[in-house]
Amino acid sequence: MVSVELGRSEDIGETARAATRFVHIQTFGCQMNVNDTDRILQVLAPHGWAATEDPAQAHLILLNTCSIREKAEQKMLSQLGRLAPLKEYNDELVLGVAGCVAQQEGAALLHKVPYLDLVMGPDHIAELPAMLERMKQGERRIAETELYKRKDFRFVEAEPREETKVSEFVTIMKGCDKVCSYCIVPFTRGREVSKTPEMVLREVEKLVASGAKEITLLGQNVNSYGKDLQSDDMGPLARRVPSFAQLIKQVDALPGVERIRFTTSHPMDAIDDLIALFGTVKSLCEFFHLPVQAGNDRVLEEMRRAYTIESYRETVRKLRAQCPDIALSTDIIVGFPGETDAEFEDTVRLLEEVRYDSIFAFKYSERPGTRAEKLGDTVPEATKKARLAKVLEVQERVTRDKMEAMGGKVVEVLIEGPSQRSAKGVGTNLQMMGRTRQNHIVNVPVPLGDFWSRRWVGKLAAVEITEVKSNTLFGRFI
Ligand code: SAH
Ligand code: SF4
Ligand code: F3S
Repeated sequence: MVSVELGRSEDIGETARAATRFVHIQTFGCQMNVNDTDRILQVLAPHGWAATEDPAQAHLILLNTCSIREKAEQKMLSQLGRLAPLKEYNDELVLGVAGCVAQQEGAALLHKVPYLDLVMGPDHIAELPAMLERMKQGERRIAETELYKRKDFRFVEAEPREETKVSEFVTIMKGCDKVCSYCIVPFTRGREVSKTPEMVLREVEKLVASGAKEITLLGQNVNSYGKDLQSDDMGPLARRVPSFAQLIKQVDALPGVERIRFTTSHPMDAIDDLIALFGTVKSLCEFFHLPVQAGNDRVLEEMRRAYTIESYRETVRKLRAQCPDIALSTDIIVGFPGETDAEFEDTVRLLEEVRYDSIFAFKYSERPGTRAEKLGDTVPEATKKARLAKVLEVQERVTRDKMEAMGGKVVEVLIEGPSQRSAKGVGTNLQMMGRTRQNHIVNVPVPLGDFWSRRWVGKLAAVEITEVKSNTLFGRFI
């Protein structure tokens, strides 16, 4: 039975457990979607569904989609086209779209794509078994994309999967109440709804009991955690809701939690009580993803980011004063409507000044219904391309310098499993892969026996960095 909390608790009913049917899910986009895919598999399992990697074997195919940029959306449509012929061989195959494109397009997607059977917004995961039952009873095509408010929204409480990973994500809230003018997320994920602290702690405890060592607290805007629970008609609960910083401390206090990370937070809300945790809460990793988007105040204002570059710099200064070892990463958008060459150069200067450990950079992509859409997509594609290349080149240099400086250092690495190359059987050296607290990936060679026994998986090991090769760190256990 699926556990649900807050809001309606309609019984989704039991269907035949015996007959195994197969579901194939392809996941696009961010960690929210990765997490949602796990929840979809979880709600289906008690109804006799098992996951398959092979779409040809599936009775249900779901594309869990992303619409953050236009390209992501196109990817989903062409993938749908590739899967459509499978319906000719299997009349009973249900082809569905979940995630952010589903939410954005709603029932219109059924009209656009005639061979599509199901459109399911991210708020409707708990109802999926009931929707499939409705189809069994004769309903042909279903679209469920109402965005629930807190009162009606039901989280599916995560249960450990068969193979719990060393590093696991725990969603602490859904939605986003910010108003960044370029962004589709507030439309596809709705208002912020927080899990109760009890539910978060229970999920962490279950994951740790089944082998997780590192927990990443997940939300579009984790700094706002709990605000909806505090201000709403939550009665006595409201008084017990911790702030995000307090929640981190509560997670830290649970036995077995070795490392805590979180993503993502809005720079405007990176407030002092959160900053104060770095270097003081033992399991909180020295890593902060602090998306700046642009280095120019006029552009930031048009983006409605609600901070200035000076206040952002101040946050970086405070973080580094509190915790000199902290690694920083960021997101950059180039070619926002109206961004001039000089304004773009401010972004380049900011990268050179802050010297992030890593960045994610994107060309601006106009999204339907957003405020920025009204500004027009004014920066030519070639300019966007050149600006993207420039920020990546600048960052490449910084990253290389920072990595080279790590040579010879001893770092704490949490071993996650075989390195990508070793997992694919590439190369003669068998290696395990792990991450430092600052989120750098380190590959460590191990003897054949250790590789197959996986005895290092889940271990926190002291590793000396022996080699830095094309942005990859290699080390040895000491
Ligand atoms: N809530 C998170 C993540 C949002 S999506 C945050 O605020 O950081 C991840 C990144 O995608 C954003 O930080 C932004 O850099 C980028 N992004 C969002 N909308 C975009 C758009 N319309 N065009 C290009 N990049 C976009
Ligand atoms: Fe989008 Fe801004 Fe919310 Fe991030 S904070 S999800 S960029 S609206
Ligand atoms: Fe994409 Fe939706 Fe995540 S738009 S980035 S999958 S919240």
